[in-house]
Amino acid sequence: MNSTNSTLVTGIAELTTNDPELGVLRDAALVLEGDRVAWIGAAAHAPVADDRVDVAGRAALPGWVDSHTHLVFAGDRTAEFEARMSGKPYTAGGIAVTVAATREASDEELLANLRRHTEEALRQGTTCLETKTGYGLSVADEARSAGIAAQLADEVTFLGAHLVPPGADAESYVDLVCGEMLDAVAGSVGWADVFCETGAFDEAQSARVLEAAARRGLGLRVHGNQLGEGPGVRLAVELGAASVDHCTYLSESDVEALAGSDTVATLLPACDLSTRQPLAPARRLLDAGATVALASNANPGSSYTTSMAFCVTTAVLQMGLSVAEAVWSATAGGARALRRDSGDGAVGVLRQGARADLQVLDAPSVTHLAYRPGVPLTWAVWREGGRRR
Ligand code: NIG
Repeated sequence: MNSTNSTLVTGIAELTTNDPELGVLRDAALVLEGDRVAWIGAAAHAPVADDRVDVAGRAALPGWVDSHTHLVFAGDRTAEFEARMSGKPYTAGGIAVTVAATREASDEELLANLRRHTEEALRQGTTCLETKTGYGLSVADEARSAGIAAQLADEVTFLGAHLVPPGADAESYVDLVCGEMLDAVAGSVGWADVFCETGAFDEAQSARVLEAAARRGLGLRVHGNQLGEGPGVRLAVELGAASVDHCTYLSESDVEALAGSDTVATLLPACDLSTRQPLAPARRLLDAGATVALASNANPGSSYTTSMAFCVTTAVLQMGLSVAEAVWSATAGGARALRRDSGDGAVGVLRQGARADLQVLDAPSVTHLAYRPGVPLTWAVWREGGRRR
């Protein structure tokens, strides 16, 4: 093995790989070389490397893959949160408050805020992160948000269709999103999304946005079925979206459609809790055969957390997932939702050739993520082979 810039991480009591052949390894080690995993196996057979880190009986797993965040924003919505905790319902209308603050902010402020939150996520083990536009809602502000997001996020999604801006006509705004706005963001984004929900965009408007984005070669994602049953999930499946996110309210036919498709159901438990909605039916989806991802939905309105561990804990304690299912969903599931789960440099998995994204817990097994709820367990983090914590 060429040992330039290589690190042997050894003494791993339990190594969750998410690789179907490797499974969960005991007394394991791996070698990170450059930004890739170069070797993985039993500690007793590990090769020599430039550096050696002994994690002394702790558990290791792929870094979290957070496939749904909204982190290009300014401003604060503490008052809205307080009102919600006193019984006021969540509505899409709060988005306009963040739009106003985001438009007011300088590029430097938006970038600094994004950096603060991505670094907060990284310290907690998130090594691959998607983020969205959607708090600009004008051609110039959406293009600016996309450019800022592209500086720090692994994946960037265009969400010009987040809300019809106050005072605008919905159909004319959809025309703008499908034309000039898509053109303006095209160089910075790989994905397009739409908030298909009462109070945001209806089925026909959502379809128009997604079809225009697909014609430009963008991958598709949908915000669907967050506040009630509706057409979001069906539309996402029909149009071959990589993921439909929220899925809090699902009919039997929604579950069946997801189970028979390649569209990932991305569940956002921190959002369900912070908006006092029921938790998404994760168990029903898994039992039906759907692919489930867990993500933070970090944003200042409906889910102001970057903690993927919190999502995993909630999925186990409240949503009926086993620890193994929840950990898979927050790593390999997120990678699948971003179509980054295979090939050279895959994320959410640890095998030779995968991206060297690794987290070590201050615990002997991943079970402690649920067994010790709320306790910060991140002990070490490597992203693209570099130690970040
Ligand atoms: O995913 N549902 C739409 N968008 C965000 C909320 C954004 C906000 O309230 O600012 C979400 O929950």
